[in-house]
Amino acid sequence: MKSIIKIIKRSLSFFRRLKFFANRKIKIGKNIYIGPRVKLKAIDGGSIIIGDNCEINECTKIFSGGGKIIIEENCMINDYVQIGAMEADITIHSNSSINSFCFISSRGSLTIGSNVAIGPQVVIITDNHKFSDKNIPIKHQGDIKGKIIIGDDVWVGAGCKILSGVKIGNGVVVGAGAVVTKNLEPFKVYAGVPAKFLKDR
Ligand SMILES: CC(C)(COP(=O)(O)OP(=O)(O)OC[C@H]1O[C@@H](n2cnc3c(N)ncnc32)[C@H](O)[C@@H]1OP(=O)(O)O)[C@@H](O)C(=O)NCCC(=O)NCCS
Repeated sequence: MKSIIKIIKRSLSFFRRLKFFANRKIKIGKNIYIGPRVKLKAIDGGSIIIGDNCEINECTKIFSGGGKIIIEENCMINDYVQIGAMEADITIHSNSSINSFCFISSRGSLTIGSNVAIGPQVVIITDNHKFSDKNIPIKHQGDIKGKIIIGDDVWVGAGCKILSGVKIGNGVVVGAGAVVTKNLEPFKVYAGVPAKFLKDR
């Protein structure tokens, strides 16, 4: 029974994939699963490349408004994830997973390493609003573009926030609910608001 459901899901996925094959700004590899109501959109010279054997699950939206979003092979993006890049690049290296309800946004640059596990409801935003002028609404003062690098084999617990300018070293564990405001050293465990060293692995 399970295998029949799998075959039906894969066949439906094939038809969903067809609309993306026609779009030259979106390239999707072999053996991809695309869930229902997934949106992939690339405008203003942007592009989206998804490698072989990836899974993009229900209601997830991936948007490139200029720049390249690359999701390498064997990645799993769960349900209701939003990934958006405005004139910016986002790269998610192979074998990584992004759990449900994550919000990932970049106007600068974002790299997520390979074998990374990102828990549900994680927020990663590479940029800040400018706010030095008290006479102009903050939302109209423009942005400071930033960069975030997440190394290989990192586990980001549920509900974490990763802020602009940080580099998370290889093999780091970030405890649930942490707010990462500074660089994190490789192979250590961090937790809290702001994220602080908890222990070595
Ligand atoms: C960070 C984590 C991995 C540590 O687990 P652990 O090694 O078993 O650590 P412990 O439970 O022994 O906790 C050690 C100390 O850190 C504290 N701590 C643990 N997790 C914490 C967190 N997320 N935030 C703040 N403090 C935390 C504990 O209260 C404890 O403090 P104490 O020594 O003062 O009592 C775990 O607590 C965690 O946050 N896991 C994420 C779970 C998750 O998001 N799953 C989603 C699946 S993708």
